[in-house]
Amino acid sequence: MGRSGATRGGYLPVIDMAIGIFDSGLGGLTVLDAAQKRLPSMQFIYLADSANAPYGVRKTEDIYNLTCVAVQKLFDLGCDLVILACNTASAAALRRMQEMWVPSQKRVLGVFVPLIEALTERNWGDNSPPREVEVKHVALFATPATVSSRAFQRELAFRAIGVDVEAQACGGVVDAIEDGDMILAEALVRSHVDALTRKMPNPQAAILGCTHYPLMEEIFQTALGHEVKVFSQGNLVAESLADYLERHPDIKGIGNTAYFTTGDPERVSDRATQFLKRKIQFDAA
Ligand code: DGL
Repeated sequence: MGRSGATRGGYLPVIDMAIGIFDSGLGGLTVLDAAQKRLPSMQFIYLADSANAPYGVRKTEDIYNLTCVAVQKLFDLGCDLVILACNTASAAALRRMQEMWVPSQKRVLGVFVPLIEALTERNWGDNSPPREVEVKHVALFATPATVSSRAFQRELAFRAIGVDVEAQACGGVVDAIEDGDMILAEALVRSHVDALTRKMPNPQAAILGCTHYPLMEEIFQTALGHEVKVFSQGNLVAESLADYLERHPDIKGIGNTAYFTTGDPERVSDRATQFLKRKIQFDAA
Protein backbone atom coordinates (compact mmCIF):
# COMPACT_ATOMS: atom_id res chain seq x y z
CA MET A 1 0.00 0.00 0.00
CA GLY A 2 1.13 3.58 -0.07
CA ARG A 3 0.86 5.10 -3.52
CA SER A 4 -2.36 6.71 -4.68
CA GLY A 5 -4.09 6.60 -8.05
CA ALA A 6 -6.57 9.16 -9.34
CA THR A 7 -9.85 7.63 -10.50
CA ARG A 8 -13.27 8.93 -11.42
CA GLY A 9 -14.37 8.50 -7.80
CA GLY A 10 -11.37 10.33 -6.30
CA TYR A 11 -8.16 8.87 -4.91
CA LEU A 12 -7.94 5.16 -4.29
CA PRO A 13 -5.06 3.38 -2.60
CA VAL A 14 -2.68 1.54 -4.91
CA ILE A 15 -2.02 -1.91 -3.51
CA ASP A 16 1.09 -3.79 -4.66
CA MET A 17 0.73 -7.44 -5.71
CA ALA A 18 -3.04 -7.61 -5.26
CA ILE A 19 -5.03 -9.97 -7.46
CA GLY A 20 -7.91 -8.20 -9.18
CA ILE A 21 -11.30 -9.92 -9.29
CA PHE A 22 -13.75 -8.33 -11.68
CA ASP A 23 -17.47 -8.82 -12.27
CA SER A 24 -20.28 -6.67 -13.59
CA GLY A 25 -21.85 -6.89 -10.14
CA LEU A 26 -22.16 -9.19 -7.17
CA GLY A 27 -21.76 -12.56 -8.90
CA GLY A 28 -17.97 -12.53 -8.81
CA LEU A 29 -18.18 -12.58 -5.01
CA THR A 30 -18.87 -16.33 -5.35
CA VAL A 31 -15.41 -16.65 -6.95
CA LEU A 32 -13.75 -14.19 -4.57
CA ASP A 33 -15.17 -15.98 -1.51
CA ALA A 34 -13.75 -19.32 -2.67
CA ALA A 35 -10.39 -17.70 -3.54
CA GLN A 36 -10.15 -16.02 -0.12
CA LYS A 37 -10.79 -19.36 1.59
CA ARG A 38 -8.33 -21.26 -0.61
CA LEU A 39 -5.62 -18.55 -0.53
CA PRO A 40 -6.03 -16.76 2.81
CA SER A 41 -2.66 -14.98 2.63
CA MET A 42 -3.30 -13.39 -0.78
CA GLN A 43 -4.43 -9.84 -1.28
CA PHE A 44 -7.47 -9.19 -3.48
CA ILE A 45 -9.18 -6.18 -4.97
CA TYR A 46 -12.77 -6.80 -6.03
CA LEU A 47 -14.34 -4.48 -8.56
CA ALA A 48 -18.05 -4.57 -9.38
CA ASP A 49 -19.18 -2.50 -12.34
CA SER A 50 -22.61 -2.20 -10.73
CA ALA A 51 -23.44 1.03 -12.58
CA ASN A 52 -23.36 -0.88 -15.88
CA ALA A 53 -24.72 -4.28 -14.78
CA PRO A 54 -26.11 -6.45 -16.16
CA TYR A 55 -23.62 -7.10 -18.96
CA GLY A 56 -25.47 -10.17 -20.21
CA VAL A 57 -27.99 -8.21 -22.25
CA ARG A 58 -25.39 -5.93 -23.85
CA LYS A 59 -23.74 -6.08 -27.27
CA THR A 60 -20.29 -7.68 -27.58
CA GLU A 61 -18.58 -4.34 -28.37
CA ASP A 62 -20.12 -2.73 -25.33
CA ILE A 63 -19.07 -5.61 -23.05
CA TYR A 64 -15.53 -5.42 -24.47
CA ASN A 65 -15.25 -1.66 -23.86
CA LEU A 66 -16.71 -1.80 -20.34
CA THR A 67 -14.48 -4.73 -19.39
CA CYS A 68 -11.33 -2.94 -20.61
CA VAL A 69 -12.22 0.17 -18.58
CA ALA A 70 -12.80 -1.93 -15.45
CA VAL A 71 -9.65 -4.00 -15.86
CA GLN A 72 -7.61 -0.83 -16.45
CA LYS A 73 -8.94 0.45 -13.13
CA LEU A 74 -7.65 -2.73 -11.45
CA PHE A 75 -4.26 -2.35 -13.17
CA ASP A 76 -4.14 1.26 -11.91
CA LEU A 77 -4.87 0.01 -8.39
CA GLY A 78 -1.77 -2.17 -8.53
CA CYS A 79 -3.05 -5.52 -9.85
CA ASP A 80 -0.73 -7.35 -12.26
CA LEU A 81 -3.11 -10.30 -12.46
CA VAL A 82 -6.86 -9.89 -12.99
CA ILE A 83 -9.47 -12.65 -13.01
CA LEU A 84 -12.60 -11.94 -15.03
CA ALA A 85 -15.00 -13.54 -12.53
CA CYS A 86 -17.69 -12.93 -15.10
CA ASN A 87 -18.57 -15.46 -17.77
CA THR A 88 -20.14 -12.79 -19.93
CA ALA A 89 -16.91 -10.77 -20.03
CA SER A 90 -14.85 -13.97 -20.39
CA ALA A 91 -17.03 -15.02 -23.35
CA ALA A 92 -17.38 -11.69 -25.10
CA ALA A 93 -14.13 -9.87 -24.33
CA LEU A 94 -11.30 -12.02 -22.97
CA ARG A 95 -9.79 -13.42 -26.15
CA ARG A 96 -9.75 -10.03 -27.89
CA MET A 97 -8.31 -8.37 -24.76
CA GLN A 98 -5.52 -10.95 -24.56
CA GLU A 99 -4.72 -10.62 -28.26
CA MET A 100 -4.91 -6.84 -28.59
CA TRP A 101 -5.05 -4.97 -25.34
CA VAL A 102 -3.44 -6.54 -22.26
CA PRO A 103 0.09 -5.09 -21.70
CA SER A 104 2.86 -7.71 -21.77
CA GLN A 105 3.66 -7.44 -18.03
CA LYS A 106 0.00 -7.97 -17.00
CA ARG A 107 -2.21 -11.10 -17.05
CA VAL A 108 -5.98 -11.36 -17.47
CA LEU A 109 -7.57 -14.79 -16.97
CA GLY A 110 -11.15 -15.98 -17.43
CA VAL A 111 -13.39 -18.47 -15.66
CA PHE A 112 -14.38 -20.91 -18.44
CA VAL A 113 -11.34 -23.11 -18.69
CA PRO A 114 -11.22 -24.41 -15.07
CA LEU A 115 -14.90 -25.33 -15.37
CA ILE A 116 -14.47 -27.15 -18.67
CA GLU A 117 -11.37 -28.95 -17.40
CA ALA A 118 -13.43 -30.23 -14.44
CA LEU A 119 -16.30 -31.28 -16.69
CA THR A 120 -13.95 -33.11 -19.04
CA GLU A 121 -11.90 -34.66 -16.20
CA ARG A 122 -8.65 -32.97 -17.22
CA ASN A 123 -5.81 -31.70 -15.11
CA TRP A 124 -5.09 -27.96 -15.15
CA GLY A 125 -3.58 -26.92 -18.47
CA ASP A 126 -3.84 -30.38 -20.12
CA ASN A 127 -3.83 -29.41 -23.80
CA SER A 128 -3.92 -32.92 -25.27
CA PRO A 129 -6.34 -33.53 -28.18
CA PRO A 130 -10.09 -33.76 -27.51
CA ARG A 131 -11.33 -37.16 -26.35
CA GLU A 132 -14.54 -38.94 -25.32
CA VAL A 133 -15.62 -38.14 -21.77
CA GLU A 134 -18.08 -39.69 -19.31
CA VAL A 135 -20.69 -36.96 -19.53
CA LYS A 136 -22.65 -36.81 -22.80
CA HIS A 137 -25.62 -34.49 -22.12
CA VAL A 138 -24.84 -31.12 -20.59
CA ALA A 139 -27.20 -28.29 -19.69
CA LEU A 140 -25.65 -24.82 -19.81
CA PHE A 141 -27.32 -21.96 -17.92
CA ALA A 142 -25.82 -18.56 -18.72
CA THR A 143 -26.61 -14.97 -19.68
CA PRO A 144 -27.99 -14.20 -23.16
CA ALA A 145 -24.60 -12.76 -24.26
CA THR A 146 -22.67 -15.84 -23.05
CA VAL A 147 -25.11 -18.21 -24.75
CA SER A 148 -25.03 -16.35 -28.06
CA SER A 149 -21.20 -16.17 -28.03
CA ARG A 150 -21.02 -20.02 -28.06
CA ALA A 151 -17.67 -19.59 -26.26
CA PHE A 152 -18.47 -22.46 -23.90
CA GLN A 153 -19.10 -24.88 -26.77
CA ARG A 154 -15.91 -23.67 -28.52
CA GLU A 155 -13.73 -24.26 -25.44
CA LEU A 156 -15.41 -27.62 -24.84
CA ALA A 157 -14.74 -28.75 -28.42
CA PHE A 158 -10.97 -28.29 -27.82
CA ARG A 159 -11.16 -30.87 -25.00
CA ALA A 160 -14.03 -33.31 -25.58
CA ILE A 161 -15.88 -35.04 -28.38
CA GLY A 162 -19.44 -36.30 -28.51
CA VAL A 163 -20.88 -33.99 -25.85
CA ASP A 164 -24.33 -32.61 -26.52
CA VAL A 165 -24.78 -29.12 -24.98
CA GLU A 166 -28.20 -27.52 -24.60
CA ALA A 167 -27.96 -23.86 -23.59
CA GLN A 168 -30.56 -21.80 -21.78
CA ALA A 169 -30.25 -18.00 -21.75
CA CYS A 170 -31.49 -17.09 -18.28
CA GLY A 171 -32.96 -13.63 -18.89
CA GLY A 172 -33.82 -11.60 -15.80
CA VAL A 173 -31.98 -13.67 -13.17
CA VAL A 174 -28.98 -11.34 -12.78
CA ASP A 175 -31.20 -8.24 -12.53
CA ALA A 176 -33.33 -9.90 -9.83
CA ILE A 177 -30.23 -10.90 -7.83
CA GLU A 178 -28.67 -7.43 -8.17
CA ASP A 179 -31.99 -5.94 -6.96
CA GLY A 180 -32.05 -8.37 -4.03
CA ASP A 181 -35.40 -9.78 -5.25
CA MET A 182 -34.67 -13.42 -4.46
CA ILE A 183 -38.31 -14.50 -4.83
CA LEU A 184 -38.31 -13.31 -8.44
CA ALA A 185 -34.84 -14.83 -8.99
CA GLU A 186 -36.07 -18.21 -7.71
CA ALA A 187 -39.19 -18.14 -9.90
CA LEU A 188 -37.06 -17.27 -12.95
CA VAL A 189 -34.57 -20.05 -12.22
CA ARG A 190 -37.40 -22.60 -12.00
CA SER A 191 -38.87 -21.44 -15.28
CA HIS A 192 -35.47 -21.50 -17.03
CA VAL A 193 -34.79 -25.03 -15.75
CA ASP A 194 -38.23 -26.03 -16.97
CA ALA A 195 -37.52 -24.56 -20.42
CA LEU A 196 -34.17 -26.37 -20.58
CA THR A 197 -35.55 -29.76 -19.56
CA ARG A 198 -38.23 -29.48 -22.23
CA LYS A 199 -35.35 -29.34 -24.77
CA MET A 200 -33.11 -31.88 -22.96
CA PRO A 201 -35.18 -34.03 -20.59
CA ASN A 202 -32.27 -35.85 -18.91
CA PRO A 203 -29.09 -33.79 -18.63
CA GLN A 204 -26.32 -35.62 -16.75
CA ALA A 205 -24.59 -32.39 -15.76
CA ALA A 206 -25.52 -28.74 -15.49
CA ILE A 207 -23.14 -25.82 -15.78
CA LEU A 208 -23.92 -22.65 -13.85
CA GLY A 209 -22.23 -20.48 -16.48
CA CYS A 210 -22.74 -17.16 -14.74
CA THR A 211 -21.04 -16.30 -11.46
CA HIS A 212 -24.31 -14.94 -10.07
CA TYR A 213 -26.02 -18.33 -10.29
CA PRO A 214 -24.17 -20.11 -7.45
CA LEU A 215 -26.11 -17.74 -5.20
CA MET A 216 -29.16 -19.78 -6.39
CA GLU A 217 -27.40 -23.15 -6.56
CA GLU A 218 -29.87 -24.98 -4.30
CA ILE A 219 -32.79 -23.81 -6.43
CA PHE A 220 -31.06 -25.05 -9.61
CA GLN A 221 -30.19 -28.37 -7.95
CA THR A 222 -33.71 -28.96 -6.62
CA ALA A 223 -35.36 -27.97 -9.91
CA LEU A 224 -33.00 -30.21 -11.91
CA GLY A 225 -33.16 -33.17 -9.52
CA HIS A 226 -30.38 -34.53 -7.34
CA GLU A 227 -29.13 -37.00 -9.95
CA VAL A 228 -27.85 -34.08 -12.07
CA LYS A 229 -24.28 -33.01 -11.22
CA VAL A 230 -24.22 -29.22 -10.94
CA PHE A 231 -20.89 -27.50 -11.69
CA SER A 232 -20.29 -24.00 -10.37
CA GLN A 233 -17.11 -21.99 -10.65
CA GLY A 234 -16.09 -20.74 -7.20
CA ASN A 235 -13.95 -23.63 -5.98
CA LEU A 236 -12.78 -24.63 -9.45
CA VAL A 237 -11.46 -21.15 -10.22
CA ALA A 238 -9.90 -20.84 -6.74
CA GLU A 239 -8.12 -24.15 -7.24
CA SER A 240 -6.76 -23.16 -10.65
CA LEU A 241 -5.67 -19.78 -9.24
CA ALA A 242 -3.79 -21.64 -6.48
CA ASP A 243 -2.10 -23.73 -9.16
CA TYR A 244 -1.20 -20.59 -11.15
CA LEU A 245 0.27 -18.93 -8.03
CA GLU A 246 2.39 -21.98 -7.29
CA ARG A 247 3.97 -21.44 -10.69
CA HIS A 248 4.31 -17.67 -10.03
CA PRO A 249 5.72 -17.50 -6.49
CA ASP A 250 6.64 -13.82 -6.98
CA ILE A 251 2.96 -12.91 -6.36
CA LYS A 252 2.59 -12.52 -2.59
CA GLY A 253 -0.04 -10.93 -0.39
CA ILE A 254 -0.93 -9.92 3.13
CA GLY A 255 -4.36 -11.52 3.38
CA ASN A 256 -6.79 -8.66 2.93
CA THR A 257 -9.37 -7.52 0.37
CA ALA A 258 -10.56 -4.13 -0.83
CA TYR A 259 -13.97 -3.81 -2.48
CA PHE A 260 -14.89 -1.18 -5.07
CA THR A 261 -18.03 -0.50 -7.06
CA THR A 262 -19.02 1.91 -9.80
CA GLY A 263 -22.52 1.91 -8.27
CA ASP A 264 -23.86 3.05 -4.92
CA PRO A 265 -21.43 1.70 -2.27
CA GLU A 266 -24.03 1.50 0.52
CA ARG A 267 -26.53 -0.42 -1.56
CA VAL A 268 -23.89 -2.77 -2.97
CA SER A 269 -22.38 -3.31 0.53
CA ASP A 270 -25.80 -4.28 1.93
CA ARG A 271 -26.43 -6.83 -0.81
CA ALA A 272 -22.90 -8.26 -0.59
CA THR A 273 -23.21 -8.59 3.19
CA GLN A 274 -26.52 -10.40 2.70
CA PHE A 275 -25.02 -12.82 0.14
CA LEU A 276 -21.73 -13.63 1.87
CA LYS A 277 -23.27 -13.51 5.37
CA ARG A 278 -20.37 -11.39 6.65
CA LYS A 279 -19.81 -7.64 6.70
CA ILE A 280 -18.54 -6.37 3.34
CA GLN A 281 -17.84 -2.67 2.81
CA PHE A 282 -17.56 -1.33 -0.74
CA ASP A 283 -16.04 2.01 -1.65
CA ALA A 284 -16.70 4.10 -4.72
CA ALA A 285 -14.49 3.30 -7.72
N1 DGL B 1 -21.89 -12.65 -13.33
C1 DGL B 1 -21.68 -12.42 -14.69
C2 DGL B 1 -21.45 -13.67 -15.48
O1 DGL B 1 -20.80 -14.56 -14.94
C3 DGL B 1 -22.39 -11.29 -15.37
C4 DGL B 1 -23.85 -11.25 -15.40
C5 DGL B 1 -24.37 -10.00 -16.07
O2 DGL B 1 -23.88 -8.91 -15.79
O3 DGL B 1 -25.30 -10.13 -16.89
O4 DGL B 1 -21.85 -13.81 -16.60
